[in-house]
Amino acid sequence: KLATMYWLQVKEANYTRLCKKKTILTVNGEFPGPTIYARRGDTLVVNVKNRGNIGITIHWHGVKQPRNPWSDGPEFITQCPIQPGSSFSQTIILSDEEGTLWWHAHSDWSRATVHGLIVIWPKIGRPYPFPKPYAEYPIILGEWFRQDPEAVLLDFMKTGGDPNTSDALTINGQPGDLYPCSSSETTKFIVEQGKTYMLRMVNAAMNIFMFWAIGGHEVTVVGTDGAYTKPLKTGYVMISPGQTIDLLFKANQPIGRYYIAARPYNSQPLISFDNTSTTAIIKYKAYKDSSSPPVFPNLPKVNDTSVSVNFTGSLRSLATRAHPVNVPMKITQNFLFTISLNTFPCPNNSCLGPMGLRFAASINNISFEFPKISILDAYYRRITGVYGDAFPNFPPFFFDFTSNNINRSLQTPLNATEVKVLEYNDTVELVFQGTNLVAGIDHPMHLHGHSFYVVGWGFGNFNRNKDPLNYNLVDPPLQQTIAVPKNGWTAIRFKADNPGVWFMHCHLERHLSWGMDMAFITKNGSRTVESILPPPPDMPPCT
Ligand code: C2O
Ligand code: CU
Repeated sequence: KLATMYWLQVKEANYTRLCKKKTILTVNGEFPGPTIYARRGDTLVVNVKNRGNIGITIHWHGVKQPRNPWSDGPEFITQCPIQPGSSFSQTIILSDEEGTLWWHAHSDWSRATVHGLIVIWPKIGRPYPFPKPYAEYPIILGEWFRQDPEAVLLDFMKTGGDPNTSDALTINGQPGDLYPCSSSETTKFIVEQGKTYMLRMVNAAMNIFMFWAIGGHEVTVVGTDGAYTKPLKTGYVMISPGQTIDLLFKANQPIGRYYIAARPYNSQPLISFDNTSTTAIIKYKAYKDSSSPPVFPNLPKVNDTSVSVNFTGSLRSLATRAHPVNVPMKITQNFLFTISLNTFPCPNNSCLGPMGLRFAASINNISFEFPKISILDAYYRRITGVYGDAFPNFPPFFFDFTSNNINRSLQTPLNATEVKVLEYNDTVELVFQGTNLVAGIDHPMHLHGHSFYVVGWGFGNFNRNKDPLNYNLVDPPLQQTIAVPKNGWTAIRFKADNPGVWFMHCHLERHLSWGMDMAFITKNGSRTVESILPPPPDMPPCT
């Protein structure tokens, strides 16, 4: 019997990594945090108690929370932070999600250490759409900062420059044996020859896409973002920050030891990252010797965009009777959202961004400004002056978004808190158009409260007349985070059948902090069961 009640205590704990002890924010003293288990359709109650010393919020990434935006968690979008010493009991309402999701802090940069998996099994008596795995293992990819992540945030927001990079990538909280002082702690998995294992993977890193592979073995992707996919056999995986991927791995190689390894995929080579691989080790149970090193996988080159889009573009919905596809066909709202890096002027060119300017990021040229109270609260209680409802359907002007020489005057965005209001049951087609303002780079765009179908993508500028002819409306993957390719576009479709306030943002944390964010408000339908639930009594107060 599964617990339907969880207690998460946010508190500081000491951890030693890269030869140095430091205090980090954790949940229940664990890093990564505890796994939450559920079955499809369950409702869970999670009591979050903040025993740390900064305000915090927790988000259930990928859980749609039908009619219940109150428990979604992004700070100043659906709630104000849970202050130190206070509690908030959050209700997690699962509907059709099945597979792996995750939870993470959604305030400042706390999610660097405050995160964990959500495992959603099929309903009792219902099968997986593949033979039942012998066992399952988590693969939580992350980043370790020697600095306090909150200090990294404050520093780059103040100076206007790029954030300091992290000091190691991690698997299940461990950098692995290629990093100093990390060898003995390297994550190890014991497997039996001939058995099949399920790996539940999330990229919980702040700012890094990753290539991931196992030495000597192929894997089969069977799901992403809490929905099943057609089985996809592959030698490597590219996973975006925010994304989850479920894999089957068969121990079908000679008895031995094999590395699991991940390292950055970086479409913008100007940004420097530590390019060391994080490692874990798979050891076949019968293997006794330990003299020869584990077999290392072939990982794609760090800037290999074609390998990355080849993987992402190969994902397909399972599309079976038990797991059908439901792509909206008649579209009531058509949007084109440019996603750009920008620069802002800075007093006497004194910032650390390019040419003494400060960095910013935007959607349709609006750099999102967080309000002082939550948008949901303002919407529900009709408090005016907190946000505007004028988020544009299209960018303010069209130009060659992906060319090499974009006029600098096109780079200065507006600072604003604008939402897009949707009618209940609107069917939305949204094209994310990457731009080459400042620099082109992949953006992992994430929408709260919904899954969306990824119906098309391409390089260059989206062509409204031609590109829709090539959409996949038969078995497009159902996702919640999609890597929009560098200087390219991605088209998604979803139905606005979840009343509430729903954040949408780039899941690269530095872009989120620079303003590559917006929110949708979906209005109530006409019936009570189409309306937002009443707020819980213990909502953290905003003042
Ligand atoms: Cu992982 Cu706003 O989310
Ligand atoms: Cu981005």
